[in-house]
Amino acid sequence: MLRFEKIASKYYSKYMEMLTEWKNYDTSLSPDVLELPCANEYEYKTIVLVAEDAENGIHNYKDWYEKCYYYLVLNDQDRLLGAVAIRTNLTQYGKDFLGNISYGIRPSERRKGYGKAVANMVINKCKEMGMNEIIACHDVEDGASRRILESAGAIPMGVLLPETFGKRIYRYIIKTNINEDINLDKAIETFKEYIKPFDKNDGAIYLKVIHTYHVMQFSENIAQELKLKDQEINLAKLIALLHDIGRFEQYTAIKTDPSKKDINHAEYGIKVLLENSLIRKFIATDKYDEIIKKAILNHNKYKIEEGLSEKEKLQCEILRDADKLDNFRIREEEKIENFLPGVQDVIKKLTTENISDKVYEDFLKHKCIKLEDRKTVIDYWICVLAFIFDLKFKSSIKYVLEKDYITKLIDRIPYQNEDTKKKMEEIKKCANEYLKEREE
Ligand SMILES: [Fe+2]
Repeated sequence: MLRFEKIASKYYSKYMEMLTEWKNYDTSLSPDVLELPCANEYEYKTIVLVAEDAENGIHNYKDWYEKCYYYLVLNDQDRLLGAVAIRTNLTQYGKDFLGNISYGIRPSERRKGYGKAVANMVINKCKEMGMNEIIACHDVEDGASRRILESAGAIPMGVLLPETFGKRIYRYIIKTNINEDINLDKAIETFKEYIKPFDKNDGAIYLKVIHTYHVMQFSENIAQELKLKDQEINLAKLIALLHDIGRFEQYTAIKTDPSKKDINHAEYGIKVLLENSLIRKFIATDKYDEIIKKAILNHNKYKIEEGLSEKEKLQCEILRDADKLDNFRIREEEKIENFLPGVQDVIKKLTTENISDKVYEDFLKHKCIKLEDRKTVIDYWICVLAFIFDLKFKSSIKYVLEKDYITKLIDRIPYQNEDTKKKMEEIKKCANEYLKEREE
């Protein structure tokens, strides 16, 4: 069994031994990192740093790729057999002439089948990294590389112009067959990885995790009901997965700094996704970044912003409906303390408080409740009920009616305030009538 290891200090003597052998043969050193001067341990340490920097996008070849991951190849006996480079986000020039991958096997270990094994490991690594296609280029004279790549399923794209670097270069594309450009399995894995440091024994965190998965399901249902293409359904699910990502960091931050409560969690989510290009771990291509951003930023607004494209607007509408549907589920099933964390005497407040006049009037006029108009906790409860006025799709209206959410949510509170109790009955009547009208 072979394995990849990052270039690290502990491999100094093995690296020197391999390099000395390699240089004694008259063959080219590949990947390029092997060409760096390495006469002593000090220079080797520089190579370790160069490799670390390349992973973070710091390198001298910025004009044709973004990041480069270097690996050493070792066998079961810990013998160093060669090295590998995987480069991400190639420019057109990088795609045309240089490729994503390069690897080399030390001369004494050639013709033993390692080249083929390493090529397959590289391809798998590229898949893990979410690459849809891998480009490989090699010298036309290099018959071994050609055989290896072709046996790994690479599609020959022909010989490049004769003058390329004074050599004739053969170019290949390897299709990784990962689910087109949205790989939901990988995105969910990345999400699980992201939430690992957050305390899932904390009810509010647990609730946000479950909420995310439910919103994905609601988004899928809505998108399927609308008979969208697979690609658009997958995009809707991915957006749902990412829509509340800011909540985790924000919630944790509030514990030490309560003022963070006022931060808009959608904007915070975008900040989290863009920091260190976290978003690229969820989706390899950046072609949906704008639509993902718009959908997240609009999901908690009073109204969707003007000027969006049809596609952007549709994804915003799907997410807003899906998010609201799951908010009804949460208010029915979950402990009130979990979705109103930090509110003192929350049950007492809900049962005894008055409804603000503006909130009550707006509800009866079938209007959503503005955040600034909410004065009491019972206003908050009514604000959730008023989500029905913003539901876009008939399937969502039907779902709320089927689940009888309005009645269940209103009846969940044992009102002690007579005025509130009476008004809640009016709200129930008004809301159910509205839903039935919309259903027809
Ligand atoms: Fe949400």
